[in-house]
Amino acid sequence: MKNPEKVKNIISLLRKGGAGRLQVISDFDMTLTRFGFNGKRCPTSHNIIDNSRVISEEGRRKLKDLLHYYYPIEIDPYRTVEDKLPLMVEWWTKAHNLLTQQRILKSDIAEMVKESDVMLRDGFNIFFDQLYQNRIPLFIFSAGVGDVLEEIIRQAGVFHPNVNVVSNYMDFDDSGILQGFKGPLIHIYNKNNTVLKDTEYFQQLCTRTNILLLGDSMGDLSMADGVADVENILRVGFLNDRVEEQRGKYIESYDIVLEKDETLDVANGILSFIL
Ligand code: TMP
Ligand code: MG
Repeated sequence: MKNPEKVKNIISLLRKGGAGRLQVISDFDMTLTRFGFNGKRCPTSHNIIDNSRVISEEGRRKLKDLLHYYYPIEIDPYRTVEDKLPLMVEWWTKAHNLLTQQRILKSDIAEMVKESDVMLRDGFNIFFDQLYQNRIPLFIFSAGVGDVLEEIIRQAGVFHPNVNVVSNYMDFDDSGILQGFKGPLIHIYNKNNTVLKDTEYFQQLCTRTNILLLGDSMGDLSMADGVADVENILRVGFLNDRVEEQRGKYIESYDIVLEKDETLDVANGILSFIL
C-alpha cells in the first residue's frame, strides 16, 4: 500500500455504508482465476479454447504465435497505453478471426472448460457466496470470452443470480457453430463506459455508491467509470507478471497491490469486515 491510512479510511467508510451501499466490480482472467499453480501458468478464457482439442494444429500454432507476440507488449512496463492500444485491438481481432475459422460448437464449451487447467483463486467460494448471501451485486467485466468464463463459474457452482457479466460473447449460427463474436469488442483498454452504453446495469444500481474493484491490469482501473456517483472506491490489484518493474506504477494506481498471492483472502477479509 502506498497509503495505509487512506486504505483504512476507505474501508471504514465502506463499512459504514454497509451491504446496501456496496457493489463489487471485478475483472475475470488472472484476477478471479489463478495466474499460476505449482510453477505452471494457468490459462485465460481465450487460452482454454486455444489449447482445446477442437482447434486444429495449425490454428493452435497461429494462436500461440499471437500470444507470444502480443502478450509481452501487453505487460511491457516501458510502453504507453496509447502505444499499446492499437496493438491490443489487433491481437483481439486476429485471435477472434482465427477462432471463427475453426469449427467450434457451442456444445464443446463445457468439455473445454472441464479438461482445462483453469482454477479460480483460493477462497473463491467464500467470495462468491458471501456476496450472494448479502445480496451484493458482482459485476464481472472481462475482455476474455464470456461463454467460457460463465461456464467456469457455473462448473464451480458459484454462478449466483447476483452475478452480471459483460464480456466478449460468441455468436453461434442455427446449427450451434461459431460464426463470430457479438460486438462491441472488449479489449484490455476499453473496459469503461464506451462498451457499456447499452446496459442499464449501473443505472439500476445508482444507490450503490461504494465500490470494491478488483483487477490485475492497468486497464482494469477504469471498470467503475460507468458508475455515476462513486462515493468511496477501494481498488485492489493483483500484480502477477514483471513484478519488479511494474510495482511502482501499480502502487500509484491501486490502493492495495497483491504480489505472489493466488488467493482471494484479502478481498474476503475486507468483505467480512464490511458486512
Ligand atoms: P482481462 O483479464 O483484462 O479481461 O483480459 C483478458 C486477458 O486475456 C488479457 O490478459 C490477454 C488475454 N488474452 C489471451 O490470453 N489470448 C487472446 O487471444 C487474447 C485476445 C487475450
Ligand atoms: Mg485480467
